[in-house]
Amino acid sequence: MRSTELVVEGECYISGRFERACIGIDGGRIVAIARNLEGERRLDFGSRKILPAAIDSHVHFREPGMTHKEDFATGSLAALHGGVTCVLDMPNTVPPTSTPSALAEKAEAAAAKSLVDFGLFAALMPGADVRAMSGRAVGFKLYMAGTTGDLLVPSLASVEAELAEVARSGKPLAVHAEDESLRRKEPAEGLDGHMRNRNGECEASAIRKVSRAASGCRLHICHVSSKDSLPLVLGQKGVTSEVTPHHMLLDRDRPLGTYGKVNPPLRTRADRQALFLAFKEGRFDTMASDHAPHTIDEKKEDFDFAPSGMPGVETMLPIMMQHVRDRHLALATVVRALCERPGEIFGIRKGRIDTGYDADLVVVDFMEGREVKADDMYSKCGWTAYEGMPAVFPRAVILRGELMMRDGERVGELRGRDVVSDGG
Ligand code: DOR
Ligand code: ZN
Ligand code: ZN
Repeated sequence: MRSTELVVEGECYISGRFERACIGIDGGRIVAIARNLEGERRLDFGSRKILPAAIDSHVHFREPGMTHKEDFATGSLAALHGGVTCVLDMPNTVPPTSTPSALAEKAEAAAAKSLVDFGLFAALMPGADVRAMSGRAVGFKLYMAGTTGDLLVPSLASVEAELAEVARSGKPLAVHAEDESLRRKEPAEGLDGHMRNRNGECEASAIRKVSRAASGCRLHICHVSSKDSLPLVLGQKGVTSEVTPHHMLLDRDRPLGTYGKVNPPLRTRADRQALFLAFKEGRFDTMASDHAPHTIDEKKEDFDFAPSGMPGVETMLPIMMQHVRDRHLALATVVRALCERPGEIFGIRKGRIDTGYDADLVVVDFMEGREVKADDMYSKCGWTAYEGMPAVFPRAVILRGELMMRDGERVGELRGRDVVSDGG
């Protein structure tokens, strides 16, 4: 029998079901799966479940320029804690990731500090050198409404040539779909007012416009939040869609105040339930956290002045595992949206326990629940909107064959790689 560097053994999730198996790993990659395998080293997880680790395809790690909120070291530690071994970082940093040099500098900072693998989005702006950035970026990001950062593209006509270049590059175009021209700017005292300022039509209109103007691109509609948007994205040819845990689990009636202020906003119970049902039926392509940390001091501002966004990279997989444990969601649906589809859409060899894929794994014990507590979180922002929610945190997290976290404590030394430039 051939011996590999490492063998990971347990109840492995392979082709949609659990089976007792050995995963043979060489050079960080899965090279063999069999009932019995020899290895130089062995990690035996007994009867615990072994799943592919998650890819969080939408995070804001705030580096460079806003590292008082988060940076690649703290953000990636939070990711590991939540069973995420690869993050795709958004370009609304300071400076924005809108030039080849900004992209190269962010990649360098991330490579020096990140404990998980990463990909970087480049901003799609008028005049952006799409061709120069497309080799390095995991995708492009288009902001159709003002939010954190300075990347608003108010008219799609102003980026016609750039959109054509994105189409030629074959890279996905991730879209923050809210129509700036339909945004109301009335004073808001709470989540209901915020929702009215950015209503469902504001989102639907942006989706319609970008679907027309960027029909040659591989469109990926981020954080779909309104039930009225569902027919515009689900099952549409050439369009993939993302849902977040917060839009699916929280609504404007929660007493969260500024901590629940996000763009697009938390909406009504009916919206939340429609998103949950669509997700449960496997109709969304991906779930991503839109991890957008702001400090408690910033969130203590009056409602209109407090920044939008909430952390989530650390709680997404654990809360979804709890839903699996409670039989509200099928494991296959969760693995598809958190692991398999992000890998397929963004061209990353992760998200499956199969030969040829990176050995990025999480070990889960469905008998062991633990409440989400801000005190336990590694994100620099120090709070969570899910305080007290039951969750199943991974017992162990493995990145490319290296045990990186065990029982919530960091153990590994591996540095994250750029999944695009380093040939992920
Ligand atoms: O709520 C949000 N926060 N929506 C965004 O689009 C940006 C994000 C952030 O970066 O804070
Ligand atoms: Zn967004
Ligand atoms: Zn975002």
